[in-house]
Amino acid sequence: MAHGLLKGKRGIISGALNEQSIAWKVAELAHAEGATIVLTNAPVAMRMGEIDKLAEAVKAPIIGADATKDEDLERLFAEGQQKLGGKVDFLLHSIGMSPNVRKGKAYEDLNYDWFKQTLDISAMSLHRMVQAAFKQDAMAEWGSIVALSYIAAQRVFPGYGDMADAKALLESIARSWGYYYGQKNKVRVNTVSQSPTPTTAGSGIKGFGGFYGFAQEMSPLGNAPAVDCANYCITLFSDLSRYVTMQNLFHDGGFSSSGVTMQVMEKFMTE
Ligand SMILES: NC(=O)c1ccc[n+]([C@@H]2O[C@H](COP(=O)([O-])OP(=O)(O)OC[C@H]3O[C@@H](n4cnc5c(N)ncnc54)[C@H](O)[C@@H]3O)[C@@H](O)[C@H]2O)c1
Repeated sequence: MAHGLLKGKRGIISGALNEQSIAWKVAELAHAEGATIVLTNAPVAMRMGEIDKLAEAVKAPIIGADATKDEDLERLFAEGQQKLGGKVDFLLHSIGMSPNVRKGKAYEDLNYDWFKQTLDISAMSLHRMVQAAFKQDAMAEWGSIVALSYIAAQRVFPGYGDMADAKALLESIARSWGYYYGQKNKVRVNTVSQSPTPTTAGSGIKGFGGFYGFAQEMSPLGNAPAVDCANYCITLFSDLSRYVTMQNLFHDGGFSSSGVTMQVMEKFMTE
């Protein structure tokens, strides 16, 4: 049920690859809540064509932009504002990729060229994106920027590899921009740390089934589905969360605060 939470707001949403993508659900819900949106993804992802379906459903133009290229991001905000008809009220960064993880390189044997790509695509891209917006003064006052993270930024999850380091950097960049953009224009910047979610990026992690199953049993509410993550992002884009900024917000069914649960303990109890 829609509440008109984003009525009259304009947003840019990155990272919708297919129906499983968290960004796909955010786009659907933002549209349902009354927002006007622009979709963006890397040109290579756009060639897969699925985003066209979403664009039609949410009546959004698509602007291709590789999030590691400053000129693409500058164009994204220039054209984006034209198409939206004004400044941007909300921005979703939903981008992640590690060549090391994708090609099965262990953390103990990283390829450093790929490591740089991991950091560039998955973390520095947030800095680049926000800097492009900042330089064009593209965000509206009290605008909201959300990037998606994972608890491997704080704790070790074997198999998540160099993405853990990228997420730690991503959360730090969000915090720093929250200061600078907050001072300039009251723009708030947060990360949402989401449960394991069966998407293309998620399932690409070796041992994803293990992360998913363990988190499921370690969370009193169970793993948070993608659509609920999207709902949470909508609240952060809305005016109901205007003073929340520079935070890493766990959206994980309680996983991050659970020491252990009975389901997990029972596996080890002998009496
Ligand atoms: N799936 C999970 O378990 C999970 C958990 C916590 C956080 N996240 C994070 O959520 C975000 C979205 O991932 P998802 O799970 O929806 O998977 P997804 O594979 O659907 O989305 C990842 C997106 O990143 C885009 N991308 C990759 N390189 C890019 C580039 N150079 N320029 C622009 N876009 C690029 C891809 O095209 C894709 O749309 C990521 O940051 C991911 O790390 C995912």
